[in-house]
Amino acid sequence: MEEIIVITGRLTWSGLVVLLMVAPVAEGLGVNWGTQATHQLPPKTVVQMLKDNGISKVKLFDAASSTMTALSGSGIEVMVAIPNDQLASLTDYSAAQKWVQHNVSRYNFNGGVSIKYVSVGNEPFLSSYNGSFLNVTLPALQNIQNALNEAKLGDTIKATVPLNADVYNSPESNPVPSAGRFRSDISTLMTQIVEFLAQNGCPFTVNIYPFLSLYGNDNFPFNYAFFDGATPVLDNGIQYTNVFDANFDTLVSALKAAGHGDMTIIVGEVGWPTDGDKNANVGNAYRFYNGLLPRLGANMGTPLRPGYIEVYLFGLIDEDIKSVAPGNFERHWGIFRYDGQPKFALDLSGKGQNKLLIGAQNVQYLPTQWCVFNPNAKDLSKLGENINYACTFSDCTALGYGSSCNGLSANDNVSYAFNMYYQVQNHNPLSCNFQGLAMLSTQNLSQGMCSFIIQIASSPLPLPLPSLIGFAILTSLGLLLL
Ligand SMILES: *[C@@H]1O[C@H](CO)[C@@H](O)[C@H](O)[C@H]1NC(C)=O
Ligand SMILES: *[C@@H]1O[C@H](CO)[C@@H](O)[C@H](O)[C@H]1NC(C)=O
Ligand SMILES: *[C@@H]1O[C@H](CO)[C@@H](O)[C@H](O)[C@H]1NC(C)=O
Ligand SMILES: *[C@@H]1O[C@H](CO)[C@@H](O)[C@H](O)[C@H]1NC(C)=O
Ligand SMILES: *[C@@H]1O[C@H](CO)[C@@H](O)[C@H](O)[C@H]1NC(C)=O
Repeated sequence: MEEIIVITGRLTWSGLVVLLMVAPVAEGLGVNWGTQATHQLPPKTVVQMLKDNGISKVKLFDAASSTMTALSGSGIEVMVAIPNDQLASLTDYSAAQKWVQHNVSRYNFNGGVSIKYVSVGNEPFLSSYNGSFLNVTLPALQNIQNALNEAKLGDTIKATVPLNADVYNSPESNPVPSAGRFRSDISTLMTQIVEFLAQNGCPFTVNIYPFLSLYGNDNFPFNYAFFDGATPVLDNGIQYTNVFDANFDTLVSALKAAGHGDMTIIVGEVGWPTDGDKNANVGNAYRFYNGLLPRLGANMGTPLRPGYIEVYLFGLIDEDIKSVAPGNFERHWGIFRYDGQPKFALDLSGKGQNKLLIGAQNVQYLPTQWCVFNPNAKDLSKLGENINYACTFSDCTALGYGSSCNGLSANDNVSYAFNMYYQVQNHNPLSCNFQGLAMLSTQNLSQGMCSFIIQIASSPLPLPLPSLIGFAILTSLGLLLL
């Protein structure tokens, strides 16, 4: 009897513990909210989406007041950001004081915005920037943190610099995580940055992209980009089974070599795109997140850093005007589509109970009308020019090799391009002409994974109630005027 009672007691106790520990999302999980899109959901709608899915951390790429206002009072923890092109001006301390006053202090009140970090630049040392931000990033970082400290906010709000994983590497002769060092051309600068971060209790922020390890490198072991089934790589008795851990630990080793092996590391961006490349699709994204999220949910960490890691998924919503210089996949990183609807099933708690996330509510779309190729068009000599025009001013990245719309017939291909332009132009009738090659249609040409979209209405249409009130006021005014 006694034994049974004890067991029952234990069960109840552990049941209670489980109940208390059930969190809707993994403890350290946040998302990146980028806004490089022609048509954006109202910020309030996005904030509601975050709340509906239990997401309580968000990383921004600026400090736009519309976004900050929508986040006010939400309790969501925020990383606000300074874009790279503003770094030079912040080498002036009084400009940094103004930045902090305007974009941090102003929101720091009960019911305001819960700012935790200020991101100073975004991957400013990417090799492709040719060193443009090498001289300005550290002074801007120092000025921002010093201004935060002066405003008595420095204990709770920390500056950090989200860096691309190409700021460190291990030598080709010994390509293992334990040999990680900062890139030789910037190692002095990186050491100075790390010193400053350490003095102020600020975290190191790094963006890690297993997808990019695969992209453009057909020799990369495919499975090593994911979290299941790769042949392990051995390093001093540690088995690395995925490039995420290996990459993260290369940074841990580089920090250790710089004298700060215990510095907090935030993963500022990690994710998998769903279109725009042969490896960018929903299947691979699902596989990637299905490996990543359970590790975050279990606070597994990496071999050199077991435990909790704060990680921001990239990204929240697709962005149709991101630069495609890195590749066509750039516009397809969202775990949600352009219209805030989920692309695939996920379990943000990492418990493996995948289901569709809750999409944006009450999304207003343009009318259900597409612009397509007119099969009766006589003169096709200008077709190429017109497709080119359409795709220059809209997003045709889904048409490329390995992408969702690559298998379209020639006519549907043209229709796709014309429609993307027409949607970007908010159904302006003049935007569905293309020298007589186009016409309007109500037939949905979507097929397979290839979606012929209807854009969202840029600004929300008036709600019925206020518009009725408005109508009543106008009517009464009209009556008065009469
Ligand atoms: C605050 O941030 C916004 C948006 O990123 C920026 O345009 C503005 O210049 C900043 N304010 C100050 C005073 O620097
Ligand atoms: C960097 O240099 C390359 C080669 O000189 C050039 O093509 C590219 O436009 C430069 N990029 C920037 C951001 O200045
Ligand atoms: C950065 O500073 C160095 C040394 O003062 C100078 O040689 C270099 O041209 C500067 N780089 C840029 C991009 O301004
Ligand atoms: C479809 O359009 C794209 C973009 O203009 C082009 O690269 C591709 O060759 C076209 N494919 C077909 C089947 O016409
Ligand atoms: C067009 O068809 C696709 C696939 O059947 C569907 O998912 C989408 O909702 C349709 N679009 C509209 C606007 O009805």
